Amino acid sequence: MSSALRFDVITVFPEVFEPVFAAGVVGRAIARGLLELHAHDLRAHTHDRHRQVDDVPYGGGPGMVLKPEPLFEAIEEVRAQNRGPVILLEPWGEPFTQRLARELAAEAGLVLVCGRYEGIDDRVRESLADREVSIGDYVLSGGELPAMVLIDAVARLVPGVLGAEESLAGDSFAADLLGHPQYTRPAEFRGLRVPEVLLSGNHREIEAWRQAQARRRTLARAGTPQQGEKR
Ligand code: ADE
Repeated sequence: MSSALRFDVITVFPEVFEPVFAAGVVGRAIARGLLELHAHDLRAHTHDRHRQVDDVPYGGGPGMVLKPEPLFEAIEEVRAQNRGPVILLEPWGEPFTQRLARELAAEAGLVLVCGRYEGIDDRVRESLADREVSIGDYVLSGGELPAMVLIDAVARLVPGVLGAEESLAGDSFAADLLGHPQYTRPAEFRGLRVPEVLLSGNHREIEAWRQAQARRRTLARAGTPQQGEKR
């Protein structure tokens, strides 16, 4: 089967990806050959004694900017093995939504570039980036956490990654609705009871209750942007 989705991440902290994706759904999918994850050390693409990946900004100002040469070299090298879109993780990028996750899950590969410091030399964006993606309206200190969020959300949409028991059918967003409340045993805990309908064994009623609850949650969020909606 050659439908594995390949993620290549370019970062100054390649070591942070391994422990996060060693476990859980993504880790299992990698072990089963459904996903490939390669984290590349940007510093490996420096050729000076200090292995410098950043420099002061032209025009002055605080902070450091990621230099173009290591990024160009890293991206071009990765592109030889991964022809998927080059995505920069940036706070001003297009909003990451379930819709975008679905779109990206259809690719054979994704090349994710994590910014750091005050930013990256804009010639990288101009010449090599296919798109820029933001995971939300807040500023993080780098693109590593956003890349992990994107990888997780996209990976679980790849066919076969979720087992039958976790299938997407009842998933949040599967029917463009948010999820319904879930309960497990015991039926009563500290006086708090599981809704009677869930104990009834009546699957039609249970499904109707879940649909109604999911609709209620979705409507309660109507004031905040829904997936794919413009902000
Ligand atoms: N880098 C810093 N903040 C970010 C965000 N919110 N989304 C994507 N990349 C980022």
